[in-house]
Amino acid sequence: MRRGPILALLGLGTVAGVIASAVAIFLPWLPPVASNERDRMDVVFWFTVAICIMIFAIVVAVLGYAIIRFRAAPDDDSDGPPIHGHTGLEIVWTLIPTVLVTAIGILSAIVLARNDALGKNVLRVDVSSQQFAWSFSYPDNGKVTSGTLRLPVDRSVQLILTSKDVLHSFWVPEFGQKQDTVPGQVTKLHITPNKVGTYPVICTELCGLGHSVMRTEAIVMTQKAFDSWIKSQTKATGSPNPAVSGAAVFKNNPCGSCHTLTAAGASGKVGPDLDKLPQYAQTAGKPIEDFIRESVQNPNAYVEKGYPKNVMPPFNLPKSQLDALVQYLVQSSKKG
Ligand code: CUA
Repeated sequence: MRRGPILALLGLGTVAGVIASAVAIFLPWLPPVASNERDRMDVVFWFTVAICIMIFAIVVAVLGYAIIRFRAAPDDDSDGPPIHGHTGLEIVWTLIPTVLVTAIGILSAIVLARNDALGKNVLRVDVSSQQFAWSFSYPDNGKVTSGTLRLPVDRSVQLILTSKDVLHSFWVPEFGQKQDTVPGQVTKLHITPNKVGTYPVICTELCGLGHSVMRTEAIVMTQKAFDSWIKSQTKATGSPNPAVSGAAVFKNNPCGSCHTLTAAGASGKVGPDLDKLPQYAQTAGKPIEDFIRESVQNPNAYVEKGYPKNVMPPFNLPKSQLDALVQYLVQSSKKG
């Protein structure tokens, strides 16, 4: 082979490789990294991208050279020379992809195994999902329950995920992995957050009308801040006079992701506006307390006009919580 074609191929390949690398590196394709697991996943991602850029550069070089160099003259209608198989070439183009795909496979397997390996002093968090909200409880810390996921930084966390109704999927982009929640099954996800900050928790499984609002926050805090948060929560729930607050019941349940209630700062649009509860009760022809109680426990008993049936799941709250919630809604809707 003469020097000319080699230089042309190298030149074309370099230009294509540099452009593709710039697009890969300088555009923000991925969300920021906030866990050790995401760090490892990104290694696999960039390894694969590097291979892709290399192949892209070779293909562009050969294709570009062929288009320029072997272009047929405008009046040339003749066929090209007949070419039959080339065993050597076929072995090469089978072997190279085999090696590359195997390498990606091995690296992925290593990353998966390391991502699943629990560290020392694991924090267990039970994640419960339902239409259309997440709830997180800390069984090692006096059964503290929260609507946001709070985690200490640099500590191995095992999430134990369950669903009360349909399939959902837990995802924090900055943490990397997704995990489905399946009714009747327990799934697990290991994460080690490594950056203090607030990140979105997103449901990524189409789970009903409110799917797009099934979101909350993951707050990664220092171990010290986490400990004092746990302490404040234990105090709140373990007080000797457990006067249940209706506002807390509203907040700890997914009400606000589907319903608007000005008093609670909730602006959900999936279900009826709870500021208008007195009107709804009147239309239903029931005393407002009874109406709210029934609507929580058996939502299909009366469905407001313009809203579909079977969207809201029934909530079987303990009596004290239900009473508090009913009182809270009666008072807040009158105010609203
Ligand atoms: Cu839950 Cu989508």
